[in-house]
Amino acid sequence: MIIIPGPASRELGEKIAVELGVEAHPVEHRIFPDGESYIRFTTPVEGKTVVIVQTTTPKQDVKLIQLYLMVGTAKDLGAEKVICVVPYLAYSRQDTRFLDGEAISLNLVIKLLEKAGADELVVIDVHNRESLDKIQKLVNIRMVNLSAIPLLAEYLIEYGYDGAYSLSPDKGAIHLAEAAASVLGGGFGFFEKKRNRRTGEIEMTVKDMDIKGKNAVVFDDIISSGGTMAKAIEGLKEQGAVKVAAACTHGLFTKGANRRIQEADVDLIIATDTVETSFSCVSVAPLIAGYLKKT
Ligand code: R5P
Repeated sequence: MIIIPGPASRELGEKIAVELGVEAHPVEHRIFPDGESYIRFTTPVEGKTVVIVQTTTPKQDVKLIQLYLMVGTAKDLGAEKVICVVPYLAYSRQDTRFLDGEAISLNLVIKLLEKAGADELVVIDVHNRESLDKIQKLVNIRMVNLSAIPLLAEYLIEYGYDGAYSLSPDKGAIHLAEAAASVLGGGFGFFEKKRNRRTGEIEMTVKDMDIKGKNAVVFDDIISSGGTMAKAIEGLKEQGAVKVAAACTHGLFTKGANRRIQEADVDLIIATDTVETSFSCVSVAPLIAGYLKKT
């Protein structure tokens, strides 16, 4: 098995290789003056199982093209099997035609991976597990979704959140709160969340929860603008929660997100390194390496 860190996941790819006790072989890469990507493999891959590690955080489109170039090249050069590890899978929130005429972006991203020659796609806490199951029926790529939520919950225990109440921002993500609660104890629940598809505005209803005097953690797959987290945290504090932490797998933290969440009086913000930010305190390298060891 050869580990090839892509340009977007050089550090994470190296960490995975260390966990596996093998050498990483990052691709040579540069961007031409007009913005196009150049990719060159630096090790022979013929007859090998090749693991390409490439997250697809902003700038998503550039990173996706680099991913397609790496997969296609690995196959061209004779790789026997290509496993794509894409810790944060771009476009995973556009998995349905919510409004007439919309692109179902996620399907196309995955179909193009299949065309490029990928045999397996490994992602972390994809936005909607059911959408992956649906696409699985359309493509000939094995799809694997790993969850970093237990790792985040274990980290929170060190910060005094043992026994905290775990919440997800909506019912669809209840499995995140449930997985966290199995580590933290303290029970779990969810908010009622509605998003206006045209304006992007969200409405969150806090159900009556027995949260007074307790610590709580809101678990989400993604923090982007921070709007969802801020509303959830405000609601919990209003209901008398003592300490409230915000935990997510993919911390995109677009402009103003940190400020928004801080203003809601959050006590701790944590994320993984699927997106490298100052909040990335939990690495998904052991999770990915653990999976690869079993394949
Ligand atoms: C959407 O349903 C996701 O699970 C997240 O809740 C959402 O992407 C967070 O976005 P934002 O931080 O912009 O509210």
